[in-house]
Amino acid sequence: MNTLLTFSLFLLLTLSLAGSSMADYKATVFNNLPGNANLTVHCQSAGSDLGTQTITYLHDFSWTVSNLLNCDMSWGNVKGNFDIFDPKRDASRCAYGNTCFWRVKEDGLYLFIQEHKRLELQFKWPGN
Ligand SMILES: *[C@@H]1O[C@H](CO)[C@@H](O)[C@H](O)[C@H]1NC(C)=O
Repeated sequence: MNTLLTFSLFLLLTLSLAGSSMADYKATVFNNLPGNANLTVHCQSAGSDLGTQTITYLHDFSWTVSNLLNCDMSWGNVKGNFDIFDPKRDASRCAYGNTCFWRVKEDGLYLFIQEHKRLELQFKWPGN
């Protein structure tokens, strides 16, 4: 076989493998709480503090992640801590267009599960 062709194929394969291992995902949080409540979200990923976001009613915010994304969330006097992206758990189950879509409601956090094509309750607010 032509050496140049073999080398080109090798290079192409290496580049595509390297590309897929560095895949970025998007974690989106949509505020669907009652009473126009604001949702406060404070996330950390891979030892970095990503700051605090206030997501107003019927708005969303997205983080681009490739590692675990852990967030403190609160509204009114309700508080919780959730892993909203975990590459082992989520890379295939919620990666619709590489996006983990969360809808935050009064009873808890719903995730769009690609295989079931619907939102499913994953985490309840503590105490609920
Ligand atoms: C939500 O936040 C916005 C902007 O930070 C603020 O103007 C609004 O009053 C807040 N709404 C409630 C219900 O606390």
